Amino acid sequence: MYDLWLGQWLFPSMIAADELGIADILHQQPAAADDIARKLNVNGLGVATLCDLLVCLGFLSKTKDAYSNTQYGNKFLTSASETGWGAIFRPLQAGENARKIVDSIKKGGCHIASDGNTFSEMWEEGAVTEQAAREFIPRMHCLILPTMRKIVSNKLFAMANSVIDVGGGSGALGVALAEAGLQCKYTLFELPAVCTLADEYLKAAKAANYNMHKGSFFTDHWPMGHGVVFLSNILHDWPPSVGMSLIQKAYQATAPGGKIVLQEMIMDEDKTGPLIPVLFSLLMFINHTAQQFTRSELFAMLETVGFVNPEVTEAGAYYSLVTASKPLI
Ligand SMILES: C[S@@+](CC[C@H](N)C(=O)[O-])C[C@H]1O[C@@H](n2cnc3c(N)ncnc32)[C@H](O)[C@@H]1O
Repeated sequence: MYDLWLGQWLFPSMIAADELGIADILHQQPAAADDIARKLNVNGLGVATLCDLLVCLGFLSKTKDAYSNTQYGNKFLTSASETGWGAIFRPLQAGENARKIVDSIKKGGCHIASDGNTFSEMWEEGAVTEQAAREFIPRMHCLILPTMRKIVSNKLFAMANSVIDVGGGSGALGVALAEAGLQCKYTLFELPAVCTLADEYLKAAKAANYNMHKGSFFTDHWPMGHGVVFLSNILHDWPPSVGMSLIQKAYQATAPGGKIVLQEMIMDEDKTGPLIPVLFSLLMFINHTAQQFTRSELFAMLETVGFVNPEVTEAGAYYSLVTASKPLI
């Protein structure tokens, strides 16, 4: 399902790259994302995200300093090539996804919105409307519930007496814990309008051992002393500096000897693969001017605030669990 859902961005990315003229710029000489962005007067993260996808697809190559066209980039994406596909791409420029990619790179993110309010702004202000919650939360629930059902078999959850699910959306983790009959106490830390919906999902799953902590994880108190502090698909909604501040708060909320658990799709160290996490990163740029992370970026964030022994395990459906411990003293 993720292949099909995120695959919808593949050809529109080629149309967008053609419209922006990326391969024509690189036909002259290799260039870094920021240099391409300066030339086009567009967003640097957006260019890097699109170029990383083009590397993944084989049209560009990437070194530490710069992107270049591969033979396929020169053959199919440059306007001077007699086999260039401009004649195919250009009539498709008005397509919705191609427009979203180009507009987000030009404006620095398109920002998924409900009734004229962007989710990023509502989340930052801690004030999501009921309508916005009803639009967004069912989407997250169907995307993540199968993975939650898989990860609750991890001994982490069997051994913890309490888990706080920070920005836990529909409470899908609580649903999966209840279905598995695990005793660990589940706390959902969410915005009030989302808690109302999550309560419906948790009641339908006959969950009993749970409570709601209604508030904003930016401005409100974090309940302390949890054995597991869980953040799924949270860091990817924000720039790294905001993610760092959430991890710092998570450290305070973790009991000594307890664990932080991040659930994210992780990209390779050079950010050009695997394909589905790279496409997810493009979607996070379009929706929130944000990105997926690499393993070493996540480890560095955790270790900076004092967590130790970071590890990665597979969670299923392209997701990974990144765990790390808070030392006992
Ligand atoms: C991408 S969703 C992830 C949901 C869930 N963790 C999952 O993996 O499906 C981000 C979640 O963060 C929540 N969120 C955003 N800003 C928040 C804030 N300031 N305080 C609490 N929760 C917030 C949103 O309501 C949303 O449910």
